[in-house]
Amino acid sequence: MARREIFAGNWKMYKTSAEAVKLAKELVSGLEKKPGREYVIFPPFPYIRDVSAECSGTPVKTGAQNIYHEVQGAFTGEVSPLMVKDCGCTFALIGHSERRHIFNETDADVNRKVRAALDAGLEPMVCVGELLEEREGGQTAQVLERQIREGLRGFPAADFAKITIAYEPVWAIGTGKVATPEMADDAHKIIREILKSSAGEAAAEAMPILYGGSVKPDNIEGLYKMENIDGVLVGGASLESPSFLKIINV
Ligand code: PGA
Repeated sequence: MARREIFAGNWKMYKTSAEAVKLAKELVSGLEKKPGREYVIFPPFPYIRDVSAECSGTPVKTGAQNIYHEVQGAFTGEVSPLMVKDCGCTFALIGHSERRHIFNETDADVNRKVRAALDAGLEPMVCVGELLEEREGGQTAQVLERQIREGLRGFPAADFAKITIAYEPVWAIGTGKVATPEMADDAHKIIREILKSSAGEAAAEAMPILYGGSVKPDNIEGLYKMENIDGVLVGGASLESPSFLKIINV
């Protein structure tokens, strides 16, 4: 079955507002739209509106790097899914490893945020992935199973159709240590099996699973040709247009 193919860039906490708009402009003008391929960028919150305006009417969509699980209220410093939607976002990144490990987000938080994103009409892109010690201890499948089961607990199959998974082994993020295409493909197969038992065969088969973790212009081809890799989530290499364009135009 042909699945959606998504190429995404996570800008994390980088750029000035002028740099963010310039980068968006360069992406829009440099991308060679491939049939069926979707593009998403995740700018920092303060730049979402300007970057979304720059991308409006182009194949590039925007997303928030995080959201809170309530739509409004006395939650100082938090950002509502409705607010980011209102500023032009289509996607919300949920449970990125930096959120889990620096800000102590749990699978229960992920679950609430996925619900909130769906309720707001955003497409959740849910990040999962094991730590180095978990991989070395042979626990990768177990960790992925817990993150997916708990993070996506209680959603009907129709909701799964709007969810994208990003497999990002924590040991590969920002380290230059990319998983080999075979390692990534194996993890994606495991994830698809777990999804089948949560979402049912048809919904799981349709869900895009992206790979993230030190994706660069020189390793994209090997990753992209793997059968179970439906796109990539890029951090560092998405911060400059020449490297990100080489990746998204693969
Ligand atoms: P990286 O980040 O490409 O810099 O490893 C990926 C991510 O955190 O999504």
